[in-house]
Amino acid sequence: MTQSNRDPIKVGVLFSASGVTAPIESSQQRATIFATEEINAAGGIDGRELQLILCDTESRPARYAELMNEMIAGAQTRVIVGCYMSSTRKAVLPILERHNALLLYPTLYEGFECSRNVIYTGAAPNQNSLPLAGYMLKHHGKRVFMVGSDYIYPYEANRVMSDLIFENGGEKLEEIYLPLNADYPSYQEVVKKIVAAEPDFIYSTVVGMGMAHLYRAYAEAGLDPCKCPIATLSTTETEFTAMGADLGEGHITSAPYFQSVDTAVNRDVITRFKRRFGDEVVTDMCWEAAYFQMHLLADAMRRTGNADPDALLHTLPGMELDAPQGRVRIDEQNHHTYLRPRIGRLNRHGQFDIIHEAPNWVRADPFVISYSLDEADTTQAKTEEASE
Ligand code: ACM
Repeated sequence: MTQSNRDPIKVGVLFSASGVTAPIESSQQRATIFATEEINAAGGIDGRELQLILCDTESRPARYAELMNEMIAGAQTRVIVGCYMSSTRKAVLPILERHNALLLYPTLYEGFECSRNVIYTGAAPNQNSLPLAGYMLKHHGKRVFMVGSDYIYPYEANRVMSDLIFENGGEKLEEIYLPLNADYPSYQEVVKKIVAAEPDFIYSTVVGMGMAHLYRAYAEAGLDPCKCPIATLSTTETEFTAMGADLGEGHITSAPYFQSVDTAVNRDVITRFKRRFGDEVVTDMCWEAAYFQMHLLADAMRRTGNADPDALLHTLPGMELDAPQGRVRIDEQNHHTYLRPRIGRLNRHGQFDIIHEAPNWVRADPFVISYSLDEADTTQAKTEEASE
């Protein structure tokens, strides 16, 4: 990077401050801002400041596409971070690929995608669905009731979970989808069906505001999480804090990161984050991916000496970082991230007690080549332990 060029380096940020997924995307945006402040406080990119272009994508796929087009067409930047719902990532994918832009995507998703223009830093199905299926079938039983929001991630995540359940002698009792803006009575109707079906566990792929309705309707019906918990890949500390930890206590989430992860990096980052944003803020798996991907991006910019998306897309694969969850690595072949699967059960303080942890990081298998629930098969045999 030439020292004569002192202009800030612009990075586009596509998260929603309004609409159904505003709470979790606001958490991702806070992480992005926080990491950027850290990068700039440490001298930026060889003296150049990182400057975020912030906007409100309103939880609407069309709005993500419009704003990405504006950023690219207005020559503001072709380096973009963001998106939560897979419908929003799918909406920007053709634009990214047409303009050879770069998206860092910090959200768990359904897999079955591998764009050259995307770096995926959230969990792929083998890093969250497989460990969750293994745990739930072993500890809770084989009769599963599925409820999800009506869009691509829940359909696909349920397809993977259904295969895992059938291959392991389980039974799917129901698979119900509700609109993203479904109201509380709609969830009460679903819970009536759950009560009648008597499953061993509920697999929820509900996202956004509907999560609170589901957990509230469940609690109101007097169901017991010890007997029939809601198991999910998507409900985090952020949503449980908003709805009240009493509604979530005893329920289960599979993710590579919880605020309660006990690593030195995580303890330090939480201390700094709370100092900056206040004691009441929480972190979550989407926050963590949004946080560490900014630091990876900054490291890649320093290495390439510029912010050209093509150069960054060649540099990011193979890079590693000590993230709050432990060491992570971007895979050279599939652009997904080696992550460390964990399963947590929410406690009364709104934090997860970690009840299962993979012994090492796991390479992402976005097309789910292996459906083995045996952890020894899914854990990458790396000599290097995921660092604490
Ligand atoms: C999601 O839609 N990837 C949560």
